[in-house]
Amino acid sequence: MSFPKGFLWGGATAANQCEGAWDIAGKGDSISDHNRAGSRTSKGHRVFDLEIDTEKYYYPSHTAIDFYHRYKEDIAMFAEMGFKTYRMSINWTRIFPKGDESVPNEAGLQFYDDVFDECANYGIEPLVTISHFELPFHLGEKYDGFLDKRVIGFYEKYAVTLFERYKDKVTYWLTFNEINFGTLPHGLRINGLFKREYTETEQYQALHNVFVASARAVIAGHKINPNFKIGCMLAYITMYPKTCKPADVLQTQQMNDKLNFFCGDVQAKGKYPYYMKSYFEQNDIHLDITSDEEALLQAGTVDYYTFSYYMTTCIAADLKDRDDKTGGNLFGGVSNEYLETSDWGWQIDPVGLRFTLNQIYSRYELPLMVVENGLGAFDEVTAKGTIEDDYRIDYFKQHIVEMGKAIDDGVDLIGYTPWGCIDLISAGTGEMSKRYGFIYVDRDDEGNGTLKRYPKKSFYWYKKVIESNGEEL
Ligand code: BG6
Repeated sequence: MSFPKGFLWGGATAANQCEGAWDIAGKGDSISDHNRAGSRTSKGHRVFDLEIDTEKYYYPSHTAIDFYHRYKEDIAMFAEMGFKTYRMSINWTRIFPKGDESVPNEAGLQFYDDVFDECANYGIEPLVTISHFELPFHLGEKYDGFLDKRVIGFYEKYAVTLFERYKDKVTYWLTFNEINFGTLPHGLRINGLFKREYTETEQYQALHNVFVASARAVIAGHKINPNFKIGCMLAYITMYPKTCKPADVLQTQQMNDKLNFFCGDVQAKGKYPYYMKSYFEQNDIHLDITSDEEALLQAGTVDYYTFSYYMTTCIAADLKDRDDKTGGNLFGGVSNEYLETSDWGWQIDPVGLRFTLNQIYSRYELPLMVVENGLGAFDEVTAKGTIEDDYRIDYFKQHIVEMGKAIDDGVDLIGYTPWGCIDLISAGTGEMSKRYGFIYVDRDDEGNGTLKRYPKKSFYWYKKVIESNGEEL
């Protein structure tokens, strides 16, 4: 197994799921701050309140794990594990509280200066997601989010503010987290469409405007610092045909095109793929795409490709009528009898990661990074105060073995940042009990607990993996 020298081992978080301090130092409310806690059974159906009522309801992002006040302690623990990189996001509403201001909030900018300086103290390279479900609520309320082309300009201004401020502290950037969520029911986290029901045309129009925003950021970023590496980020849901029936295979190809390939094709190849153009034509979807925008998409392609990988699923031609549906991140599909599932019903598939890395690399031939992967599981604290998470170690071990094989296949994989390297709140359900971390945080689903941090068994295991550059598993 051959992880290259300089491989970027690390971990990943997102501001809205770890920072808390939701209304401190001038921060505005983001889309995620309007989500109430849900439960394991309510995946995808967290209540989204237009009016926040903290007297009546609990909103997990408001305190989260209080990274805002504890980042020094947390980064010290990441450093103890030997992180080379730390994937984090910037909370848009700390910088532009409403999103359409002309002047950024200095206190917000200073906070991230402090975080980056702390990383630098340990030689940790930040990998920054510019927008990870933290769109300012006001942009949705006033403009219908990215449906309005003015929001492209607000995003570009925000990105340029970050690029200029942190040009000597950050090299690796990602424009939008899981951009391919864009046209699905959870898409509001990216596009800000939450005021009413939106037509399919409107959803694709908003996604188009997100593409343009991303391209404009890539172009502007490269002008500010030509050394910047600016990437895309997709939720990759690898799909297998349920059977070798040609109809199942064809359905798999079509869904894979739309959900996995489409956004990557636009961001990495710089133009709309043929299969989406004909889908739009056949479904009477007419988008406002100017020739200037087409040129921007072409000029603003990404430098590297990143994705989240948690699971794979099966697709069948009669998907809608099946009763063997399985759980999942973006959507379910049907179950695969050869795979086990997590406590939340996500199908665990390490070999699928090797398959996926090859599938993506053969299409784009760009450097790849797996920027999210991990096992959301219930953890128990023993009487001795330890967390014996062998199931998590086992999950990571198997996935890392397969990444090594993909590298041996010739894939240019440059980094790996497991999700929720420290326990944080779940994006899907708002729970704390869906834990991903190497570090345990004492907090429960209702917001009780000391917030004290404890290394789990996997913490010491991952430290050795990094020390040995993936040889000691
Ligand atoms: C990805 C997101 O969808 O998956 C993260 O980028 C999220 O924000 C992660 O937390 C895991 O999903 P969940 O629902 O288990 O938190």
